[in-house]
Amino acid sequence: MAREWSYWTSNKLNILGDYVPAFNTASKRSSERLYLDLMAGRPENVERLSGSVIDGSPRRVLSANPGFTRHVFFELPANADKLEVVLRKEFPQADFRVVRGDCNRTIGAVLADLRPLNWAPTFVFIDQQAAEVEWETLVRLSKFKDPRSKTKPELWLLVSPASLARGVGGQESKTRAFREKISRFYGTWNWLNIQDARDARIITVPEYQDEMVNLIRFRLTEHLGYLHTERIPMRMTNGHAIYDMVFASDHDVGAKIMRDLYRQAAEREPRMIDEARRLAITKREEELGKLSLIALSELPATEPLPVMDPEGKREVLWRSTPHWRPSSRKWWNDRHRPPTDHDSGSGD
Ligand SMILES: C[S@@+](CC[C@H](N)C(=O)[O-])C[C@H]1O[C@@H](n2cnc3c(N)ncnc32)[C@H](O)[C@@H]1O
Repeated sequence: MAREWSYWTSNKLNILGDYVPAFNTASKRSSERLYLDLMAGRPENVERLSGSVIDGSPRRVLSANPGFTRHVFFELPANADKLEVVLRKEFPQADFRVVRGDCNRTIGAVLADLRPLNWAPTFVFIDQQAAEVEWETLVRLSKFKDPRSKTKPELWLLVSPASLARGVGGQESKTRAFREKISRFYGTWNWLNIQDARDARIITVPEYQDEMVNLIRFRLTEHLGYLHTERIPMRMTNGHAIYDMVFASDHDVGAKIMRDLYRQAAEREPRMIDEARRLAITKREEELGKLSLIALSELPATEPLPVMDPEGKREVLWRSTPHWRPSSRKWWNDRHRPPTDHDSGSGD
């Protein structure tokens, strides 16, 4: 069955569709360029309001020009075979593999196979729904390249504090398992400092979202050594973020291109929101938003605040912001000690 998507998915995938040829143009002197899609999805996807078909990441990436020379699509068994059949038919010449199973378990063997190409420019898309990817997988990816290489694989990662917040509430046994899952994603239990601050209403929902996105940016930079990270929130029709796309790169040029694409995506977004409203089915979307973000009902609907550029001439809908040290917040109390091995250090 086709998966139903909203305009924010199109906006996200448009960024990918624009970035891939830019990445491959920038690295065209390299004879090999690798693409890893850790959550490759299903072949068919439709836009919820308009009913139009949306190409998912595998189709967009395989039809990019210039594109990557090799591709690996990871997907759970329920979708993997169908995806492979469809892609083989549509892209008979392309060099790709579909790897069945949990990407956190299959990544090791795939990276070992690719080891002879560990000098090649590499881009990794991690389009998760909540916290399916594990920190250990991000660590392995960051170590894939030859130590003499100046750059690590670029990571493009969906982070959805809204989905995390939804899973944290609810039934006790499920909640505990979900908290462990979130800790495996962050590689630390310290995100609970943020959760506690939210539960005690010390921080607002937007602050919770900012802090949860910041924590992964901080860790990508300070623990994995990425030079640049950027975030862009993708908003629902009520102005609240459904998720953020986080980019991590060691390339100045890659970061500059992605910043431009984030700016363009932020400029597209109001038009997409208007279109969704025009289709007059926003009520259903808002229900989806309420389901996915606890305490959203406390908030009035907001529009993204217009920000002027330094000359005050033009509205700036997105700007690059630095990450901060999570423990610099006065509510951070570091009470959360690592009960499992996957905590990778003290403090944040
Ligand atoms: C948001 S969808 C990805 C959509 C896809 N990137 C696209 O553009 O069409 C997330 C996908 O991840 C898959 N998935 C979830 N957990 C996974 C895991 N641990 N390993 C591999 N795939 C996983 C799900 O089956 C689902 O198809």
